Order: sequence, then C-alpha cells, then structure tokens
Amino acid sequence: MKNKLYYGDNLIWLRDQDHFPGELVDLIYLDPPFNSDADYGANSKGNSGKKSQTQLLAFDDIWNWDKEVSALALNEMGSNVPDIAQLIKLPDKKKGKASKNIPVNLELMATRLLELHRVLKPTGSICLHCNYEAVYYLKEILDAIFGKENLRNAIVWKRAAARSDAKKGDNVHDVILCYSKSSQCNWNPQYLGRIQSYKASFCNKDAGNKHWTDDIANPDMIIDISPISLKAAERLGYHTQKPIALLERIIKAGSNEGDIILDPFCGCGTSIVAAQKLKRRWIGIDITQLAIYLTEQRLKDSYGKSIKDSYELLGNPCDVASAKALWSKNEREFELWALSLVGAKPRIRNGGIEGILGFAEIGNKKGTIVVQIKGSTYLVRGMIDDMVGLIEKEGAAIGLLITLHKPTLGMITDTVHAGSYQSELWNRNYLKIQLRTVNDLLEGKSFDIPQTYSLLKKSERVKSQEADLKPLL
Ligand SMILES: C[S@@+](CC[C@H](N)C(=O)[O-])C[C@H]1O[C@@H](n2cnc3c(N)ncnc32)[C@H](O)[C@@H]1O
Repeated sequence: MKNKLYYGDNLIWLRDQDHFPGELVDLIYLDPPFNSDADYGANSKGNSGKKSQTQLLAFDDIWNWDKEVSALALNEMGSNVPDIAQLIKLPDKKKGKASKNIPVNLELMATRLLELHRVLKPTGSICLHCNYEAVYYLKEILDAIFGKENLRNAIVWKRAAARSDAKKGDNVHDVILCYSKSSQCNWNPQYLGRIQSYKASFCNKDAGNKHWTDDIANPDMIIDISPISLKAAERLGYHTQKPIALLERIIKAGSNEGDIILDPFCGCGTSIVAAQKLKRRWIGIDITQLAIYLTEQRLKDSYGKSIKDSYELLGNPCDVASAKALWSKNEREFELWALSLVGAKPRIRNGGIEGILGFAEIGNKKGTIVVQIKGSTYLVRGMIDDMVGLIEKEGAAIGLLITLHKPTLGMITDTVHAGSYQSELWNRNYLKIQLRTVNDLLEGKSFDIPQTYSLLKKSERVKSQEADLKPLL
C-alpha cells in the first residue's frame, strides 16, 4: 500500500469503504479541534499578547464538516447504535441550555469514532488527543464504542508552564485517551512518559498477548516534551501544531515498524512526518488546503523531493471541473489550492494579494513575486492595471495572476504593455505581469519567472532514524 494523504472531510472519506475497508489500520492518532485557546494558537501569541504575524491562517470553523453527510450518519446512528445516539443526547438533557458550553460537539465526534472503530484492526489502538474539558465527555463515548475494558491509558501531556488563573486554575495539560480495539493489542507502554505509573500488574502476559487493567487514576505523565514555542525550530506557523517528539513517543508506544498509522485530523502533518521517520506506513486526512499544502511541503523538506513518489494525494482538484467545484464550495480553499500550484506562501491580510514567493538577486538581494488568484468569471482589463499598482506598492518585481476562467484578449494584451522586470542575476527580462489559467498550470505551462524559493518556513531535513527511546523507568 502507498501512503496516502486525503483532502476533505474525514467522515466522507472514512465512510468510503473502497478507501477505508474494515480492519485496515494499526494505530489511529486524532487531534480534533476544540473550542479552546490552545486550538487557536494561544501559545503563538507573542509577549504583547497579540497574535503572532508568523502564524498562518486558522480554519474558519471550529468544526468543519459536511452537514449532509453528518446528518445522514447521525440518522443511521439512531437506528444502528441507539445506545450511542442516546449517549450523545445525554448532556443536553442534563444541562438544558447550558449544553452550548460542552467543549466538544459530541455528535460530530461519535459519528467519526464509529467509523474509526470499524477501520481499526483487532490488534489496533486509538489515541485521542483532547483538552482537559473535552476529556470527560469523550471518555464516555469512547467507553461506549471501544468498551471500558479496552481503555489502555490516559496520558497527560503537560503542554504549558504553570500559570495562575484564579477562576479556572492552571489549565496546562492535554489528555491523550488510548483505547485498544480488543485485548489482543500491540502496545509498548514502557516508552511513554518520564513519570510513569507503569506497574507490573498493569500489563500481564497472557497467551503471548499483552492484557491491561483499567487504571485511569494513574496516568502516564509526559512532562519532558515542550509545546511548539515561537522560537521552536520545527514551528511552521500552523495554529495547533503538536511537537514531533510527542507524536514519535505515541507512535512508538502504539505500533511497530511497517504498521499503518491513520491521522484523520492531520493538520500540518506532525504524525505523518513522525510515522515516516519511524518506518511506519501512514494515512493522513485534513479538511483544509492549508494543512494539505503544509504537510506536503514538510514531507518534501524533511525527506527530499522523491518522497512524492511514495504517497498518493487524493481529493485535491486534478482538472478544471474539479477546480471549479472547489471554488463554488469554498473560495478561500480554492485560492489556497491555486497558491500551492506555484508554491507561494499564503498571505493573511492580503490587501489584494493572495500569496508571495521569493527569488535571489545579485549581491544577496532578495526579490519578491506577488500572486493574485481570480476564481470568478468576472475578468476585466482593469485588473492588470490594478496589479501594476499593487506590485509597486509592495515593492515586488513581478505579479502573477492565476485565473480559473479564460482571461479576455484585452487582459492578455495589457500584460505585454505593463512592462518588464530586468533581473541582473538572471541577466534577462521578465514580463512584469503574467497571466496563467488553472488549466495552463495543470498542463505544466508554468510562469516565466526567475527560480523561486518558498517563503514558507522550511522543515529540517530528517537525516537518519533517531536512536530508539530507551525505557525511562
Ligand atoms: C488540532 S488540528 C490538528 C493539528 C495536528 N495534530 C498537527 O500537529 O498539526 C485539527 C485539524 O483538524 C482539521 N479538521 C477539522 N475538521 C475536520 C474534518 N471534518 N475532517 C478532516 N479534518 C478536519 C483542521 O483543519 C485541523 O487541521
């Protein structure tokens, strides 16, 4: 099996049994978004308390999901697994209007967890990363789907330095709830944390399999892995990026070389890069183009260009029709996808510019290329003039316009009259404003520009497989 990266709602993909037959994967790690500071990059605020400029876009919705598919799944859940359907209604009944305050959408989680249970091998495990509030609700659902007796561990990860909040106390940890599908699980518990409650009685050998007793009162504590700080070398600017060391530890604990790891909320690909490093096979899913774009860049930076041949990317537009479909569904997602075609870094406050690229000039000078994306059929000559104004304002050398539909002849003529940029290093002229359609780019007709470099933060190259973590007992 080739490794796979899927763009789209994980529920839609998971319910597609051609892609996700039963009992496919060995370990699932999921880190869904919750309505919390941590999700929105509290740790990416600078000393001023303002959001860091290096932070890339966040997803718009706390939960991105396809409403129709989820409604269908919920309906089916009502008839197929009424006990779980009942369970997710419980908080409503208990709390009345206060149910709004439940820190996690239980319906959305339950529908996905049922599919995840199906795709897990009988020897497999699932690790659900959540915050200190959501854990209480999620444990009930996991108990119902995976069975209380299959709870393997509740790992506490101390993700921030202690701080005092008179009303809420210190909220400095996340919890990773780990369940197996059965008692026949592959789990290597001794590699988990620095402080461990691991006891001989916790894991008994029985007919060659490891059997566990339920001991959530004594969780493993991971206190030696810091969160992604502003200065961390691995920081990519993705709001909820988790440290790779944390993922490596979880993957080592829950799987063996050659196993298949699934991350249905893969974000900027931390689990995927860790799985690759540890010689596991992997499947990642994310609903945002930014996540898919960053994951691909990160894989390329970490393992070299040839990594692209070892995995398949599914769900991204592959022709004009699917690009149009993406634009009608979500314009911003379309723009991000179009930017990925030229490797441009997305701009947050765009001021008419969707992305930027860099290139080298003589004497160590750096040149900038700005990118504009037009998905609408509304394409007029004035846009070329506007682009000339924009590149002047930005101090950029060249402006690239990517259109979904064919530009008018007048626009094409205007690009020729907009002048050229003379590069000393490359010793030639380039048209200052250039136009390409999505179709051109998909057919390999690229822009005529100096060799560019990505302005996205580069991940460090993974040199060799790190030495195995020694048991820290
Ligand atoms: C907390 S972040 C995961 C961060 C990740 N662990 C990392 O280290 O980068 C949650 C991710 O879930 C994605 N997401 C939200 N709803 C989704 C859905 N329905 N299907 C797939 N991905 C989804 C978001 O786009 C976001 O990237």
